[in-house]
Amino acid sequence: MADWLHLVSRFFDVVTARPLDDEERRRVTALLRPGPEAEAFFAQSAADQRHGLEAAEVVARQAPGRRDLQRAALLHDIGKRRSGLGAFGRVVATLTGRIGGPWGRRHRLYLNHGALGASELEAWGAEAIVVAYARHHHGERPAGVDPGEWELLLEADGIGRRRRVRETSR
Ligand SMILES: [Fe+2]
Ligand SMILES: [Fe+2]
Repeated sequence: MADWLHLVSRFFDVVTARPLDDEERRRVTALLRPGPEAEAFFAQSAADQRHGLEAAEVVARQAPGRRDLQRAALLHDIGKRRSGLGAFGRVVATLTGRIGGPWGRRHRLYLNHGALGASELEAWGAEAIVVAYARHHHGERPAGVDPGEWELLLEADGIGRRRRVRETSR
């Protein structure tokens, strides 16, 4: 998908996202550890909760026994909540990040969401792959992570093979 089209599509995803219903919340809760991890997940915007759930379900279909990979998909963007940015602010942050920005604290937090979420997950004792995917999902696969598993997580995340290094809107 063209880069700008991807941004427009993410903008509308964020604006139009439905909150999780009871059944969806039940499925998510079954994957979460009670305590700060679950609280952080449900403190996300509806769009980010839905994005995590959808990614986890793609992984579940292809790797049904891999709770760790499903959790990596579910939790990878939890750092985004720290910026407090809405749909428009996210687009601005992504664009300014590409032309020499970010321009403000919230934009910086947003663009750094991978590392922020990873530090939290690590502190809460999450599995290595959960921490690694949160930290590196907009970058390169870390040494020691299975290439097939990494590719599955990227596909589930909607990042795909192209442009994933620069893509910061997912
Ligand atoms: Fe994502
Ligand atoms: Fe992300």
